[in-house]
Amino acid sequence: MTESKPVLLSGIKPTGDLHIGNYFGAMRQFVELTKEGKYRTFIFVADYHALNTVQNAQEMRQRTRELAMAYLAVGLDPKKVVFFKQSDMPAHTELAWIFDTITTMPYLMRAHVFKDAEAKNKEISVGSFNYPMLMAADILLYDTNIVPVGQDQKQHIEYARDTAEKFNRIFKTDIFKLPEPYVLSEVAIVPGTDGQKMSKSYGNVIPLFASRDELAKCVMSIVTDSSGKRPKNVYEIHTLVRSEDELKKIYEEHHGNYKILKELLIEDLDRYLAPIRAKYESLKDDPNIVEEVLTNGAREARAVSEAKMEQVRRAIGVTI
Ligand code: TYM
Repeated sequence: MTESKPVLLSGIKPTGDLHIGNYFGAMRQFVELTKEGKYRTFIFVADYHALNTVQNAQEMRQRTRELAMAYLAVGLDPKKVVFFKQSDMPAHTELAWIFDTITTMPYLMRAHVFKDAEAKNKEISVGSFNYPMLMAADILLYDTNIVPVGQDQKQHIEYARDTAEKFNRIFKTDIFKLPEPYVLSEVAIVPGTDGQKMSKSYGNVIPLFASRDELAKCVMSIVTDSSGKRPKNVYEIHTLVRSEDELKKIYEEHHGNYKILKELLIEDLDRYLAPIRAKYESLKDDPNIVEEVLTNGAREARAVSEAKMEQVRRAIGVTI
């Protein structure tokens, strides 16, 4: 890894069982992009973001371990990627505070997440309200150029860009680079079994590590809409694991026969996911692997984030 390569960074919250939306929307891109060797890559477990909803120590530990194993299972190579835990980097929360001080409430009130909570009359924690600032810190500390994410996170990258510009302007510096989102259009939003965005909070997920039986149950529960040429939700999920050319023929041939189409989807999903599932199971036998990988990643990420933080402290005048 050389310093001159562009930087790729992304994170996932350890908030629940991973689903195929996380995988096709984000994780698969991390793996593919890092294989190319074009980027210096930082991938992290966003545990402090998850704290907004996971407020139980045992659960946090377990979810974090599972997420780290999942990253390894989908093919993330810790020799090529700096893989770490957000909470191991004090710089993230320190910088988030500094960003809070230059950010206004009306600006944060424009965030989709806040607007959704407001529309549903949900009480929102200060941590959730400030979420975009912690995320801006995550991204900007590493001179990130691209951030592979699903469509739902795009606005957060805009927040990071705006915040970088604002900080640079106020403190008359060029410390922060402007990051770009990287969203693959075909998997920008993976639909759930009810057709809405697949999301833990909607209860419409297909788990990434589901057994064949569980897969079958989830697929059978996919809501079919008979108004179009083909059942939209089934088809869209199917395109994740089989080419459209093949699918068009299959869906024409079995027009209206949802049972057969769903059975085919179960088979294709199972074939695609089986090796990932097997790798995940085998990682469970190595109790130290997660700690080892995260400790090494933390060492490297800390060197980068602390160096940036030192520049920030100088720029704002707290280093005398
Ligand atoms: P999180 O944990 O909600 O989701 C992780 C990644 O999965 C993508 N994703 C989807 N993509 C397509 N279709 C879906 N149905 C779907 N559901 C989830 C998300 O877009 C995301 O890329 N805030 C982030 C975590 C984070 C982060 C960061 C990401 C914290 N700091 C810095 C990038 C850079 C989140 O909540 O992801």
